[in-house]
Formats: sequence, C-alpha cells, structure tokens
Amino acid sequence: MVQDRISRLIQQKEFSLEELCFLIALEGADRDFFLRETGKHYIQTLGKKVYFRGLVEFSNYCTKDCYYCGIRKSNSQAERYDIDDEQIVEAARFAHQHNYGSLVLQSGERHDTQFAKRITQLLRKIKEATNGELGITISLGEQSEDTYREWFNAGAHRYLLRIESSNKELYYKIHPEDENHNFELRLNCIQTLQKVGYQTGTGVMIGLPFQSIEDLARDLLFFKELNIDMVGMGPFIEHSNTPLYQYKNQLWPLQRRFDVALNMIATLRLLMPDINIAAATALQAIDPMGREKALRYGANIIMPNITPTLHRKDYTLYENKPCTDEGADDCSNCMNVRVCMNVRVEMAGREIGLNEWGDSNHFFNRQHTKQ
Ligand code: 5AD
Ligand code: FES
Repeated sequence: MVQDRISRLIQQKEFSLEELCFLIALEGADRDFFLRETGKHYIQTLGKKVYFRGLVEFSNYCTKDCYYCGIRKSNSQAERYDIDDEQIVEAARFAHQHNYGSLVLQSGERHDTQFAKRITQLLRKIKEATNGELGITISLGEQSEDTYREWFNAGAHRYLLRIESSNKELYYKIHPEDENHNFELRLNCIQTLQKVGYQTGTGVMIGLPFQSIEDLARDLLFFKELNIDMVGMGPFIEHSNTPLYQYKNQLWPLQRRFDVALNMIATLRLLMPDINIAAATALQAIDPMGREKALRYGANIIMPNITPTLHRKDYTLYENKPCTDEGADDCSNCMNVRVCMNVRVEMAGREIGLNEWGDSNHFFNRQHTKQ
C-alpha cells in the first residue's frame, strides 16, 4: 500500500508539500524501497555518470560567526591558516593531472579588497597553469555584485552559497541577527550570482536544532523555485566549540540525520532531475560509506578533499570530519586517489565522467529556455 504510493510518486514530476514530507520522513522497509527504486529510476533516465571536483579549503579565517560552524570568528580554539597561492596552484595542477574535471576553492568569508584582488589573481594563475582546461567552482560567501563579476571574468564559472535553511526564523536561530548575518542579503547574493552568469549552487543542513520535516520539504521547494543548478546538503554535526552545541540533547540521533539526508537527496533528484547534486562530505563523517550511498540514490558529484594536508585538520567545520587524520585517506598527494575514487564510485554502481567539467544540465536547459 505505502510502497504502491511510493512507486507512483517516483513517476511524478510535480510534488505537493505533503508528498515531499512523506518521502523525506520515510523509515524502515518503506524507506529502503524508496531509495532503491529511486536509484534505479535515476540511472535508467539520467545515466550513471559521476563527476569529480577537487576540493581545496585554502583558508579558515572567517569574519562571520555562524552558531554551528567550527571556524566561526569567535572560536579562539581554531588554529587559523591561509595556504599560499603557489600551493593552491600546485593542488590545481594535481587535480588537472589526475583528470579531475574541476576544482572547488573554499574558505571562510572575508570582504576586504585585498582578499578580492588576491582571488582574482589566483583564478587567473590557475587557469594559466591548467591550460584553461580545469573548471573552477568557488565558495567564498557573500560578496558584492562587482566582486562576483570580477571573479567570474577571471575564470570562475560556478559558485556555491548555501542558504543553510530557507526558513527565515530558523535562519536566525542558527545565525546571529545582525548586519553581518542577514537572510535577505544571502538570498539576494544567490540571485545576483545567477544574474552574473554563474552556475549557482546552494544547500542546507539537515537535522538542525528546531528544524522540522516540513522545513526540509520547503527547502526542496525553495531550490526549485529559485531554479538552482546545483545542491550540496548534508547532515548537521554539532561542534563542541560552537553555540549550537548546547542543544545536542535535542537533536535527532546522528543516524536519523544521515537517513533523512539521503531521503532529501533522493527526493530532490525526483523534483529536479537535471541538476548537479553533491555527495556531501558530512555524510561520510557519520557513515564511512556515506558518500557512496548518496551516489547510489541521487547524487552525481563527489568532491575528494585535495587541500594540502598540513592544514586539513584545521578546517573543522564540524568534528569527526573524514580524512583529517595524518595517514588517513589523504587525497592531496595520493597517487592512488583515482583508484580509490574509482572503486568508491563503482561500488555505488556508477561511472566516472573523466576529464569532463560535468556542468549542470539544468544550467544549459535554463539558458536555453531564456532565449
Ligand atoms: N555541520 C554540518 N555542516 C556544517 N557546515 C558548517 N558547519 C557545519 C556543521 N557543524 C556546512 C555549512 C556551510 C558548509 C561549507 O559547511 O552548510 O555552508
Ligand atoms: Fe564562517 Fe559562517 S562562520 S561563514
């Protein structure tokens, strides 16, 4: 009975809020059925290709104070670092040589002009060092339209800026309510990125304190309404040096957060078949096979961390982050990275799109319908 309903829903293209809530909240055997059937449907209709992005978290200096984040400016325990441009360019060369289609540059948020200029130069250097062949995604927070434009012109073509929660009230429970953390501003930034011409990605955390299943269903509708090209979303993982840690006893158990995160990915795949969905690293912090499971049920992007290792452990947005130990899966200098990732992707029943940028089809469909 329930499974008949699920089978019918998988064939649908439009979903009501109630239907989304139903899918996101599934548990037990019904959930297993939903994930399995969605995975099958997905591969039959959209193919098996998975794309790689080499992730470089080049600095954890941050001017903001999000209540959930381990690198927030008030966390005096965080060991701050900023990797030299030469080393970043080296990581980009590594990604290029190992046939990653593309690179993601991420850091804490800064608004000074020195930072903006540095990024512009850095983007040019990376383009030059990789023959213009490596795609570049950046994730550097809220910036002015001019800065977004400058970076776009210097070679970045995708941008990730998570809304974190599309519920404004919840947003202000997880961020300070001040001029530096403004919901409308963040929303405007996402729209500005689209206007400038970036393939634009956003996302949310799943299992935040005070968050309901309905909030999550509305997050999915928000992505659709904004016509977003890429989504990265993963479970919230409490960090002991952050204000949200005080609610740790009110959170869903980690396993539930993980399960709901996979349900969200599978449901979003039905709602927006042609977007790029990342298998978030936070999934792997809960389950060693977390990212592979995400690939099986709807994600098509994986982002191996290629941050030079010396500082890897300092980019701790949340605790128990995978691959932060010395000697653990270190992808930055690991000659086996391709083998390791091949195996992981194949275990998920998928195939690697080698040397392809793996742009979001949604972006091109969106451009096309505009004309
Ligand atoms: N748990 C899970 N994800 C987190 N992020 C930041 N802190 C946490 C946390 N404690 C996510 C945010 C941010 C992205 C870079 O990492 O969604 O946008
Ligand atoms: Fe750095 Fe949120 S704490 S952007």
